[in-house]
Amino acid sequence: MADNTRAWMEELIAELEERRKQVQEGGGPERIEKQHKQGKLTARERIEKLLDPGSFVELGTFVEHLDTEMMKGVKAPGEGVVTGYGTIDGRTVFVFSQDFTVLGGSLGKMHGRKIAQAMDMAVKVGAPIVGLNDSAGARIQEGVDSLSGYGEVFYRNAVYSGVVPQISAILGPCAGGAVYSPAITDFVLMSRGSSYMFITGPEVIKTVTREEVSFEELGGADVHAKKSGVAHLEGENEEEVLTLIRKILSFLPSSAKEKPPHRPTDDPEDRTAPELLDMVNPDPRRPYNMHEVIRTLVDEGDFLEIHPGWARNIIVGLARLGGQPVGIVANNPRFMAGALDIDAADKAARFIRTMDAFNLPIVTFVDVTGFLPGVAQEHGGIIRHGAKMLYAYAEATVPKITLITRKAYGGAYLAMNSRDMGADVVLAWPTAAVAVMGAEGAANIVFRREIQQSPNPEATRAEKIKEYKERFDNPWIAAGRGYIDDVIPPETTRRHLIRHLRMLEDKHEERPWKKHGNIPL
Ligand code: HXC
Repeated sequence: MADNTRAWMEELIAELEERRKQVQEGGGPERIEKQHKQGKLTARERIEKLLDPGSFVELGTFVEHLDTEMMKGVKAPGEGVVTGYGTIDGRTVFVFSQDFTVLGGSLGKMHGRKIAQAMDMAVKVGAPIVGLNDSAGARIQEGVDSLSGYGEVFYRNAVYSGVVPQISAILGPCAGGAVYSPAITDFVLMSRGSSYMFITGPEVIKTVTREEVSFEELGGADVHAKKSGVAHLEGENEEEVLTLIRKILSFLPSSAKEKPPHRPTDDPEDRTAPELLDMVNPDPRRPYNMHEVIRTLVDEGDFLEIHPGWARNIIVGLARLGGQPVGIVANNPRFMAGALDIDAADKAARFIRTMDAFNLPIVTFVDVTGFLPGVAQEHGGIIRHGAKMLYAYAEATVPKITLITRKAYGGAYLAMNSRDMGADVVLAWPTAAVAVMGAEGAANIVFRREIQQSPNPEATRAEKIKEYKERFDNPWIAAGRGYIDDVIPPETTRRHLIRHLRMLEDKHEERPWKKHGNIPL
């Protein structure tokens, strides 16, 4: 009897292994070869590279496709998506990885269900969810059921937004519905040359609008990282994308209920940075390298810029100060003199909300003359878009520190998180200039009559500009009114920022009850 039992069990296990093998083979060797030839890894190879070695545990391995009319007899191993969990730097992370070798990674009902179940579990245990997307969109053969599968995923992307971090890698041609799930997530990364995102592809576009465009020009990584802003980061290849995901997660808590993980640093907290004394140009029309200012101040010069190629007039990114992860927002005087425009406002507002959702303090570096003037900006809705920044800063309850390095003028002074917009601590360098507008513009308006009536208008204008500068183009009036907490020597900035962050560590701010706010979109 014992022997029989053993044989029976061994037979069942052999069948199990055979079934598992079939699932693991995905669409088979030919399609895998095609995938590799295109410079793409398989769904399982990607998971192995993303997670800590050997940590992956698969779930839903044997899920099969829905038995619809058109799917009769069709094989879809694993339902075209590998799901499960593992660890990154020892912390639990859920992952789904679409298998393009199985029906083009198209999303059927059960494919969607597998992803949804992984997301549900991620939220139950409070762990991030990473999606490795490589999908031809809705599975045509399943009709409305495949749309329902998308619905399950989109719904959770939205409902779980701000609950656990959601990160999307785009590693293949993501078409149709395949782009909307990533678009709802916190960070979207694309691999250069092998990934595309579009709602309708080049052929449909040609038929409808007669425009001729290549896949790359339509929705390649460069387009989305530099033009549309859909992608937060692009990697040279898939490996780089996966490494970037690990890096992003190193700054984030596993869920919104946790604080972001401190990382001990050898970089001394009171390190002075005398190089900052040579960095900021005294001529307000001359730019300087704000990236260098940031890197000089943060732990080990390690700054992970987000959206580096899009809306370059504003800089956002992740870094640590004294081991504490922070989100950094900074004007970039090298692009459009750091003026705020529609894209910059969208980029900053989104980032601020992401930081607030996951408890990362926000450090803001201000050097801004204002919002970008122009008909295109006004007609494009700069009012609506700029309002997002004001809203996002005011809404954020995480610790907020603002450092004014040079100019802080007008509405942009407020949009860059002034005291009244909710900054907990406002610091300024002696080079700071807080005013309603620059001296030239102000003198021309306020002293117009005197200039016009003067026997020597140009001399009077120059004199009035000088007068205005002396009175207003400095940090002292703002400091005198308490809008600035302290004016600090630039080389001591790191120490100040870290001390204030530590003081704010247990900051808690309640807001009036509401169902949810209504950010202008
Ligand atoms: C089912 C699909 C499929 C689909 C491709 N395949 N798209 N199966 N549903 N949507 C299958 C192919 O038949 C093929 O099967 C395999 O996947 C690989 O496809 P290829 O075309 O050979 O690959 P490639 O040349 O690399 O082209 C990839 C592609 C192209 C650009 C993505 O396949 C394509 O344009 N597909 C259609 C995209 C699309 O229109 N999707 C629907 C969007 S509508 P074999 O057996 O040969 O390997 C949508 C609605 C949701 O998503 C909206 C929600 C908001």
